[in-house]
Amino acid sequence: MAIKFERVNFEYISADGSSFKALKDINLEISDKGEFITLIGETGSGKSTLVQHMNALVKPSSGEVTVYGIKIYNDIKKKDRNVKLNPLRQKVGLVFQFPEYQLFEETVLKDIIFGPKNFGVKEAEAIERAKEIIKLVGLDESYLKRSPFNLSGGEKKRVSIAGILAMEPDILVLDEPTSGLDPKGRDALLELFTSIHNELDKTVIIITHDMNTVYKYASRVLVMSEGELVFDGDPLKLFTKKNLIDWNLDLPEIIQITRQLEDKLNIKINKLPRNVDELFNIVKGVL
Ligand SMILES: Nc1ncnc2c1ncn2[C@@H]1O[C@H](COP(=O)(O)OP(=O)(O)OP(=O)(O)O)[C@@H](O)[C@H]1O
Ligand SMILES: [Mg+2]
Repeated sequence: MAIKFERVNFEYISADGSSFKALKDINLEISDKGEFITLIGETGSGKSTLVQHMNALVKPSSGEVTVYGIKIYNDIKKKDRNVKLNPLRQKVGLVFQFPEYQLFEETVLKDIIFGPKNFGVKEAEAIERAKEIIKLVGLDESYLKRSPFNLSGGEKKRVSIAGILAMEPDILVLDEPTSGLDPKGRDALLELFTSIHNELDKTVIIITHDMNTVYKYASRVLVMSEGELVFDGDPLKLFTKKNLIDWNLDLPEIIQITRQLEDKLNIKINKLPRNVDELFNIVKGVL
């Protein structure tokens, strides 16, 4: 298993000595082959904290996180730290929730090639990669010369995604990659992540607040609530559970419409549709 959490707890300790328990007893296994996972849960439930454990940005207060056979613990000696953690950070690429935390170079090009160069790719090859990838994330080559700090929020987001794609990770972890993007841009990026998942058989993990994204794309959904992992399984099963309200989650639009049609037409639909065509066929069959 590429990523394994065993009884993981994490506490943030503030400067004044107070602490906050952000992760409680998390057990979780993730493969690097072909999973498409969405991680959801209300604000402050611990999603970002959870994924930051996946590439050792933070380390558990207790319990164990093992990533590609390497145990992440606090007392890895300083001199060993980069040797041990760098390969893992190339394999598990994490796109931050806030691109400002990730972008730091003078130009977009330098930002995108930083990761690959750091992991041993030659400069010329890294530049070629950057030219390809900037287009994949929906920007053109002219952006490569610009400063990442003078871009709009959505453009910064795209550049931060490009920087991680350029490292060609086996597991791509995206913390709210489409927040703040226009609907067309959001759909294009989700299609890009889907094609990376389908064509390269890579695992993609997306944190999102959008239930439509969960229902349309994910084969597995993880739900966090107050620091606990309260659901891990099939999205269809999640959306037929009663606890959605306790976890402050909505239903995807297509399921909401299905429920309204059941009410208005006084019919019972047993198999929930994935999309409008499926709903149309079900309703046609029932009426
Ligand atoms: N540096 C920190 N110091 C203290 N507490 C923190 C720190 N960072 C986060 N927390 C707290 O830990 C909890 C989990 O935060 P986290 O960022 O993982 O939530 P999240 O589920 O990603 O939320 P969102 O949907 O808003 O991004 C929150 O209650 C937050 O207030
Ligand atoms: Mg977050």
